[in-house]
Amino acid sequence: MKHLISPMDLTQEELNELLTLAQDIMKDPERYRKVCDGKKLATCFYEPSTRTRLSFEAAMLNLGGSVLGFQTADSSSAAKGESVSDTIQIISYYADICAMRHPKEGAPYVASKHSRIPVINAGDGGHNHPTQTLTDLLTILELKGRLDNMTIGLCGDLKFGRTVHSLINAMVRYPGIKFILISPEELCIPAYLKEEVLDANGISYTEVRSLDEVMPELDILYMTRVQRERFFNEEDYIRLKNSFILTPEKMKLAKEDMFVLHPLPRVNEISVEVDNDPRAAYFRQAGFGVFARMALIILMLGLKDRIPQA
Ligand code: CP
Repeated sequence: MKHLISPMDLTQEELNELLTLAQDIMKDPERYRKVCDGKKLATCFYEPSTRTRLSFEAAMLNLGGSVLGFQTADSSSAAKGESVSDTIQIISYYADICAMRHPKEGAPYVASKHSRIPVINAGDGGHNHPTQTLTDLLTILELKGRLDNMTIGLCGDLKFGRTVHSLINAMVRYPGIKFILISPEELCIPAYLKEEVLDANGISYTEVRSLDEVMPELDILYMTRVQRERFFNEEDYIRLKNSFILTPEKMKLAKEDMFVLHPLPRVNEISVEVDNDPRAAYFRQAGFGVFARMALIILMLGLKDRIPQA
């Protein structure tokens, strides 16, 4: 595993190994406390983040490693005009592995081409967010006990929501997956995903404009925020931002064992009254992200042989 730019960079076997390792870490985190002793993670974030950056840092610290990095483009020499390719060549002297977030699609890929250390895409524009996908898969596995044979509703901004794009790419590998795509027409998933991923893999999906009508069918409801920062004008954002709001009344339509996921941050698309519903799993999901990233760091650094015997 040299770099992780897209969820498809992982083979099915590697993905299974990663999820199994993450579940093992969850059962006995103490056993993993020194696996990354002497190793350094650089977090290079050109775009704001709470969960991804801090969970990467928590993951490395939990493994006994160290972290360094920058939180904004303005606090790095990008503000002076330094390119991503020059920056990663420098970071390669300072760290053993790098997690990079960037507002431009493809920036972590460009970095990976100039890097001597593994580069992890921590979110690139509206394109991909593979470690959120690892988090989502681990969450679904923990909550439902399986990753196959389920109906997944993806709701909100499916055009710009990179977490949705990555999740679709990853889930089409599992048998019996059906997607219900719930969005305003202007925020529907990109055509390339329909043609090259859903249609190409013979995946069943429907596109709808109302959440209520499909709630009873869902095993997972994956809510997303309307991505204000990717809109070209504020008027369109204001017009679309309240398209879907999950409320306790809507939750009454759902199955008892349906779970609500959200990559977060939330703005207003899930009412805070839903938070106390036992099916609201989005905060637990963010917690699972630490374990997914711990497993990823161990595997990408090739440190399995440092894990003590159980
Ligand atoms: N889910 C996610 O990427 O959150 P952050 O933007 O806070 O990292």
